[in-house]
Amino acid sequence: MNEGADYGGGAGGAARSPGCGPEGGGFVPSALGTREHWDAVYKRELQTFQEYGDTGEIWFGEESMTRLIRWMQKHKIPLDASVLDIGTGNGVFLVELAKFGFSDVTGIDYSPSAIQLSGSIIEKEGLSNIKLKVEDFLNPSTKLSGFHICIDKGTFDAISLNPDNAIEKRKQYVESLSRVLKVKGFFLITSCNWTKEELLDEFSEGFELFEELPTPKFSFGGRSGNSVAALVFQKT
Ligand SMILES: C[S@@+](CC[C@H](N)C(=O)[O-])C[C@H]1O[C@@H](n2cnc3c(N)ncnc32)[C@H](O)[C@@H]1O
Repeated sequence: MNEGADYGGGAGGAARSPGCGPEGGGFVPSALGTREHWDAVYKRELQTFQEYGDTGEIWFGEESMTRLIRWMQKHKIPLDASVLDIGTGNGVFLVELAKFGFSDVTGIDYSPSAIQLSGSIIEKEGLSNIKLKVEDFLNPSTKLSGFHICIDKGTFDAISLNPDNAIEKRKQYVESLSRVLKVKGFFLITSCNWTKEELLDEFSEGFELFEELPTPKFSFGGRSGNSVAALVFQKT
């Protein structure tokens, strides 16, 4: 998926790309917020990978991965820092992190097909030290803890679309994040469905904004803004 592409539906506000965002202050519930949807997506992508070697969609494009790695480089995050990719999908970002030199990388996803696909891609890349687990981040196992860095690219967005009490699920997400991230640890989130201000509000309890990462600007119908928000929070 390219930056600015829509999977939220609704009329965008000033800081979103057209079509990406909540309607009337609340998200339109969608299949995109369910495990069944993602499991079907990654089952298909796994088959495509097995047949053609195509790794599938990189959400928000290659640039979204470079942006995060550049930030980690700029802030001299040690290569042995523990990094968790929340809702890793095809795990391509895990591969990028490991290739960059990060040695303690974990990817979780609640879709078993996503984890199977990630495992196949990682194996093909010849990388052996990446940890993968099927985990629902809204109900993480006690083993999932003590991370220096947590990454979210599109997962909080997907959870926000859950047809079954998304408000409660978002709260659970923030609680899980507090549990798995170390004090002073960093949380790097990329979202196309929430503006910077909305994310600041969502993560106001226990987290503070450390940095806003520059993302491409759009201009449409006399309005302009960022199609994607990329923020770094620090756990207080
Ligand atoms: C938009 S995709 C993004 C995938 C990946 N982060 C990327 O950038 O390509 C959202 C991902 O979040 C996963 N996901 C959604 N809700 C989750 C949950 N509660 N626990 C774990 N993974 C979840 C989905 O299975 C899917 O892989």
